[in-house]
Amino acid sequence: MDDEEKPDVRPLRSARWFRKDDLPGFIHRSTLAAAGWSREDLMERPVVGILNTWSDINPCNLNLRTLAEEARVGIIEAGGIPFEVPLMSLSENIIKPTSFPFRNLLAMEAEETIRAYPFDAVVLLGGCDKTQPALLMGAASAGVPFIFLASGPATPRSSTGGDLANATGVWRLVDNLRAGKLSEGDFGAFERTVMGTPGHCAEMGTASTMAVICEALGVSLPGSSLVPAIDRRRTHYAREVGRRSVQIAAAGSPCPAEILDERAFDNAITLLCAVGGSTNTIIHLLALAGRVGVPLTLDRFDEIGRRVPMIANVQPAGEHLTERLMTAGGVPALLKTLAPLLHLDARTIDGRKMADVIESAEVLDTGVIRQLDDPVRPGEALVVVRGNLAPDGAVMKTCAADPRLLRHRGRAVIFEDVQTIADRIDDPALGIDEDSVLILRNAGPVGAAMPEWGMLPLPRHLMERGVRDMLRISDARMSGTAYGAAVLHVSPEAAIGGPLALVRDGDIIELDVPERRLHLCVGEEELARRRKEWQAKPGRHKRGYRSLYNQHVEQAHRGCDFDFLRGADEETLPDGLFDGWVGGW
Ligand code: FES
Repeated sequence: MDDEEKPDVRPLRSARWFRKDDLPGFIHRSTLAAAGWSREDLMERPVVGILNTWSDINPCNLNLRTLAEEARVGIIEAGGIPFEVPLMSLSENIIKPTSFPFRNLLAMEAEETIRAYPFDAVVLLGGCDKTQPALLMGAASAGVPFIFLASGPATPRSSTGGDLANATGVWRLVDNLRAGKLSEGDFGAFERTVMGTPGHCAEMGTASTMAVICEALGVSLPGSSLVPAIDRRRTHYAREVGRRSVQIAAAGSPCPAEILDERAFDNAITLLCAVGGSTNTIIHLLALAGRVGVPLTLDRFDEIGRRVPMIANVQPAGEHLTERLMTAGGVPALLKTLAPLLHLDARTIDGRKMADVIESAEVLDTGVIRQLDDPVRPGEALVVVRGNLAPDGAVMKTCAADPRLLRHRGRAVIFEDVQTIADRIDDPALGIDEDSVLILRNAGPVGAAMPEWGMLPLPRHLMERGVRDMLRISDARMSGTAYGAAVLHVSPEAAIGGPLALVRDGDIIELDVPERRLHLCVGEEELARRRKEWQAKPGRHKRGYRSLYNQHVEQAHRGCDFDFLRGADEETLPDGLFDGWVGGW
């Protein structure tokens, strides 16, 4: 009788590799004997993969080796077998031209790694912006139970001890430098402190937003997301993650689809709005939802955004770094404050419902975690706008914009690419004034792999006069650490003929956030004429991954996943002849 049919044997996925008395079973076990695991271990114990995106070119993930070691200890303590697998590390500030296209590549690597190896569950270790959504997307598609742990925020301290020592501080100081209010020397000194410790960006940028959202989605242990990377408590969480991973491995549950349902996404969007989080997270959540068959659309973000006030007083839209949010009670306390707006029956990876997770949570500082009727800022944190300039939608982080610009009408000044901005933004011949609308196009998913260029710099002459915000519109993204009146992710993008491609210098553009309207004030007839004249630029990538990317990437309103990666497979294990195939023999 096949071992799997014996009633006393747990239905472990790894049994297909290790519990067979045939030649493949022999080879699988004897191969791992070299790694120190006995036949009895492999026949009896659940196997947990630790997918690790550590690299020393990625300081945001620099502590992941330590966390992997702690997770490994937790797995062994709980009776499991740990195997650590290194995956590609996406270092946001280093990768050229932008890390964004590689999110999908890492997601594919994670998915196929999980599927191909005998893992009963996996621990996902990510940190820097794209590593987190990529791991989630890949694991969601693989269908094997997983638990996520982020590297944790860095602990930056500026030389003056202020809270400017982070990426948001960089943007603010660059503004001051361009406005002539900061010396090159002082700016240079900042270089040594801004990324002073391992860990991801310490404000509510994309990495912190993704990390806290993992708690709201229910795929991370409660309270784990905001503990700083260098804080010993993070290693405690890693060990606990290891222990819990063995339980879900042994049970074969909960699978990703059992946790990542519509309630989980609603809860995640609610938290995203409450923390004034990164617009990038919208793209990542849309892509993740696509992997598990949840019909999430941009409209759902706007619906939820209308009823959720921004209550976390954290940068870039608020005052503090995320460490203060942790000491104020962390994500459990935030979720408890948001309880009337949440699905409290949603499942979480620690085995409890959301209601039970937040029951004992407590807000310890109401200046950092505000009450629902006392928000950090009035109005919505994030909105979705539509109109003839963005038929499929665009997003705006209104909580980080000058409220004066939320209803605005101005003359378009077009930049075809980022190099033109660098060359010409200060050119007086462009006649830019504070009411102008700066437009960057050809920076969408196909046009330029959607870099974070959406916070276009302001002209020096306006900065010197004290102007600190202007309306900017693009098909690009914006760093989660950035701020300003930036309409982003315009869909469809210019490079595939979206209306953004038809705008001309001097056209009038209207933004009306209360009405959720983005309008190009040009008649239909004229637009039709321009559309006829428009020609796509030939693609730059003829081979390799970037060619694949351009052929298959979806538009921003669908999450920029590959069209062929939507939908989760049923768990597919090697079968039949393939199962009996013996590599190398
Ligand atoms: Fe890695 Fe910000 S640069 S998280």
